[in-house]
This record gives sequence, C-alpha cells and structure tokens, in this order.
Amino acid sequence: MIETKPTRNLALELVRVTEAAALAAGRYMGRGDKNAADRAAVEAMRLILNTIQMDAIIVIGEGEKDEAPMLFNGERLGTGEPPLLDIAVDPIDGTRPVAMGLPNSIATVALAPRGTMFNPGPAVYMNKIAVGPEAKDVIDIEAPVRDNLMKIAKARGEDIDDVTVVVLDRPRHADLIADIRKCGARIRLIPDGDVAGALMTAFPDSGVDVLMGIGGTPEGVLAAAALTCLGGAIQGKLYARNEEELRLGQEMGYDFDQVLTTADLVSSDNVFFAATGITNGDLLKGVDYFADGAVTDSIVMRGLTGTIRRINATHRLTKLSAISEIDY
Ligand code: FBP
Repeated sequence: MIETKPTRNLALELVRVTEAAALAAGRYMGRGDKNAADRAAVEAMRLILNTIQMDAIIVIGEGEKDEAPMLFNGERLGTGEPPLLDIAVDPIDGTRPVAMGLPNSIATVALAPRGTMFNPGPAVYMNKIAVGPEAKDVIDIEAPVRDNLMKIAKARGEDIDDVTVVVLDRPRHADLIADIRKCGARIRLIPDGDVAGALMTAFPDSGVDVLMGIGGTPEGVLAAAALTCLGGAIQGKLYARNEEELRLGQEMGYDFDQVLTTADLVSSDNVFFAATGITNGDLLKGVDYFADGAVTDSIVMRGLTGTIRRINATHRLTKLSAISEIDY
C-alpha cells in the first residue's frame, strides 16, 4: 500500500544550516582571508546541524584538501535519533571568491539515507559531465566532446552553437576548451564553484546547458544529490593528479576507470539538498546586510517529491545575536 501521509522534509531544516553558514561567511567577503571565512561557515553550519533530529555521519566533509578541524569525514551530527543518514557538507563552495569578493560562492549541504553516498576517500578530483533533465539520457563521459555536445544539442532541440558549456577556469582544461571551441559551442568560464555550475545546467534561465571538466570529487557528490532532485544527471570518473595519488586510490579499492553515474554517487531518490548564496551568483543572490539584519537567497530541494523551493529570508541579526552562539 502506498504511504499517503506526508513525511518530514528535512531540506526545510537544512536551509537554516546553509543560511547560517552564508550569514557567517558573508561578513568575510573581499577581506582576503579564506580560512577565516571557511571557519565562520563551518562553525555556523555545525551548530545548526546538531539541532536537527537525525543521526547523520559525514561522508563528504571538509576533507584533506582543506585540512579542516571540524565537519570532518566520519563525524556524527544531529541529535542522535533516527533517521540514520549520510551527510555531505560544503560550508563554502568557492572560498577564494568569498575572500576575493568574486561572484558565485554558495554554502551547501545534502542528506541521504545511511550508506547511499559515495565516499571519495583519497580521490580528490573527478572528471565530470553534468546536465539538466532534457539531456540526462544522452551524456557519456567516455565519448568525445563533440559527440556529447551534438547529443545534448539534439536533446534540447538546439544546434551545437546554441549550447553553452560551463568549465572551471584551470590550465588543466586547455585541451577541453580547445575541443569545445572546435565544435562551435559557447563557453562560460567560472573561477570556482562547480556545484553551482552543475546546478545551473538544470535551470533554463541560467544560460548554461552542460558542465564539463575536472573538479572536486566531494563537489561531484553534492551535485549528484542536487541533480537527483532536479531530474538532471551527472557522470564522473575519478582523476589522479599523479602516480602516487593513483596508487594510493587503487590500494584503497578505488577504480579510476569506472564511470560513476548519478545513482553511483547517491544511490537513493530520498535525498535533501539546500544551498544559500554567499556572494552574488547566476543562481543565487549573495548575502545582503543592512542596519539590523540581512537577506539571504536559498534553494531547497527534495528528491522524493521533486519539489524545488526558493527561499528569500530576512534575518534580524540583533534578535539572533541575543539567542545564538554564532557571531553574525
Ligand atoms: P573550495 O571552495 O572548497 O576551495 O572549492 C572550490 C572549487 O572551485 C570547487 O567548486 C571545485 O570542485 C574545486 O574547487 C576545484 O579544485 P581546484 O581549485 O583545486 O581546481
């Protein structure tokens, strides 16, 4: 029999987590201190996460790349009561943009049932291709760039020169960029933030159709959680920067030739995702502070129902300061 009683939407609780991280980190915009911004976001996120009724283990945390003291992989969060969950956090996707006052940084978090999130272990980087719903069945990370772009264009009822590819601006992408140019597609280079880049592919008014290139593996898992809710898709292949990384990964059982699908990265539809803008971006506005408060812009999603909410919140910082440990 079908369960008809509406169940708890944890994403509505997660948005308080990403809002708190964004409010705390937004104060550091343009101040040139990546670590201070990250610390503020991590502390705020952790405090709110621990108020949520759940027993969550961090699968995607502030891993070895950031050498973070908190929200580390394996840490337990929540009140300790069921449901049993995996959690992926990225208190700031785009720490450099926050520190430099550049666009497109977000605070983000995802939840899924225990044991359903891919654990990247020592595999820091992943080659990725991500698209929105129209093109979800046509991508193949092992196929040439041209084949993918032609199929994506066809699925979208467009020509290849209508397709816009979002790519992280990194020297390692020189060949990829040259290939995309040869096909006649358009390129949107982003300085950082490929979780937002992947999300954008599922929002028609973002002007972006596909994400391609190598970015963080943790960010790939977060993108998979979001795209599960949005009906899009991601494929990834772990990428080793050198022989040592390859050897270590292989010794731990990681297969660098395996194509990881959306379902390999998060193997449940019962996922929850929230993100809040820290600095202004294509998808989300950054935190806007005023005399006694701040406005945040967030997106909240649930995989089971496919409901996508936009939440514009006004926070009264003097009131919050009276009851909260977080320094807003
Ligand atoms: P951080 O804010 O955690 O540094 O991540 C930003 C980011 O741009 C991610 O969105 C992306 O996946 C990753 O860094 C790419 O790594 P790198 O900057 O080393 O190329």
